[in-house]
Amino acid sequence: RILIVDFGSQVTQLIARRVREAGVYCEIHPFNRVSVDSIREFGPKGVILSGGPASVADFGSPRAPQGLFEMGLPILGICYGQQTMCEQLGGKVEPGDHREFGRAMLQVSGEPCALFDGIAAKGDEVQVWMSHGDRVTAIPPGFKVVATSEGAPFAAIANADKRFYGVQFHPEVVHTPIGKQLLSNFVHKIVGCAGDWTMKAFRAQEIAKVRAQVGSGRVICGLSGGVDSSVVAALLHEAIGDQLTCVFVDTGFMRAGESEQVVSVFRDRFNIKLVHKDASGLFLDKLASLTDPEKKRKIIGATFIDVFEEEAKAVGGADFLAQGTLYPDVIESVSFTGGPSVTIKSHHNVGGLPERMNMKLVEPLRELFKDEVRALGRELGLPADMVGRHPFPGPGLAIRIPGQPLTRENLDILRKADSIYLDEIRKAGLYDEIWQAFAVLLPVRTVGVMGDSRSYDYACALRAVTSTDGMTADFYPFDMAFIGRVANRIINEVKGINRVTYDITSKPPGTIEWE
Ligand code: XMP
Repeated sequence: RILIVDFGSQVTQLIARRVREAGVYCEIHPFNRVSVDSIREFGPKGVILSGGPASVADFGSPRAPQGLFEMGLPILGICYGQQTMCEQLGGKVEPGDHREFGRAMLQVSGEPCALFDGIAAKGDEVQVWMSHGDRVTAIPPGFKVVATSEGAPFAAIANADKRFYGVQFHPEVVHTPIGKQLLSNFVHKIVGCAGDWTMKAFRAQEIAKVRAQVGSGRVICGLSGGVDSSVVAALLHEAIGDQLTCVFVDTGFMRAGESEQVVSVFRDRFNIKLVHKDASGLFLDKLASLTDPEKKRKIIGATFIDVFEEEAKAVGGADFLAQGTLYPDVIESVSFTGGPSVTIKSHHNVGGLPERMNMKLVEPLRELFKDEVRALGRELGLPADMVGRHPFPGPGLAIRIPGQPLTRENLDILRKADSIYLDEIRKAGLYDEIWQAFAVLLPVRTVGVMGDSRSYDYACALRAVTSTDGMTADFYPFDMAFIGRVANRIINEVKGINRVTYDITSKPPGTIEWE
């Protein structure tokens, strides 16, 4: 396993992604929590020091524990990681007037180096991605120059005896095409990791862990049909069988066919003990007079918890609550700005439940990124469309009918339009290229002409975005013929909609959902 010490770079998570793609388990720990003792306890075979926004020259800027360099472990410093390593080992870093941002060419001109095995030989030039203000101006004793760039005389350096390496560029980003191979060289050839961390291995390891944690206790799991909770349920069922009960609180805000799929997959196919609670009436009653998005979210969240708790009691309670917490939720981020961040939308989850119900948590996905969860889902035999599903917000369709009270009728109208849209996207083979696609029912009626008569019905908006993490997004550039075909089908097949528009807002300044 590899330890990644985080100095607060925006792209530290990508280092972890690349290392895991190379089949090696790794974790990210914030620099201010890392000590020689904590490293010993984690027991890595190698360490990567990430980039970060600070300047080594600034008073009090972050450092690696000095003792790390005496532990005999191979170390790779990236950008700020390289700079602090140089400074701590007796080299020199200066605030640069040679700022380099973006693409740069790297001259592999110096010593042969295992990092560049199979990538570049002496005299070759390769493209890398740089983002730095400071730069190393003198390397520590024992180091040799491996490569240079216009703005960085020490773009790659090595002390092969100690197995210390430093690069000024960012091998973890896609704009450094050789980066994947370089990181793989580090973890395999230099550190000597086997590269056998696969989903098959993870599945077996996690099942053993769950069994050890839970013993003969009883576990309850909230199932929504989303990727994360589905994978948790399937994994736990394999680990502990009937000690697991799943509770599916059906809010009535699911997309077409989804409630049925949850029941047929988990109860009928996996034979999991499943409580399916149709609470749609209760949710609709509570939301009947509300249009404010935040109030809706709050009521939905609170009602969800009430119903869940009641159902859990009805099956006799449990000792553990299983949750689909993922690795990006647990990585402690390193913050240099400190200021309070503004709540744009409060995301609905079951926070507070374990305390309220006095249960311990089982979180078997805590170490995984989203695409690793998908791979695990496939490994466990979940249906491909469930595993590959677009993200879907907890409050569901309730936040896709802005500006008007929710009723069964308008939910049905929206569900039909949404399902035609998704159906066409799947048929066109575009589903996996899109992060999220959905219809929104607008609170305006417009005039149309159908046959010989006048219509006066709702308008609907279609949304589709590309994104990597939901934090920023761009609208998907469908061709007009495709959008026309979808609009035609919706207007012809969905009674209640007579006009369709396409949303071309990016995030920021928009958000992905309309509320
Ligand atoms: P926004 O609309 O904030 O959405 O750009 C970013 C991502 O978060 C999802 N989203 C939610 N997920 N509860 C959730 O579980 C919510 O209340 C919620 N609101 C937005 C949204 O679908 C997108 O994937």
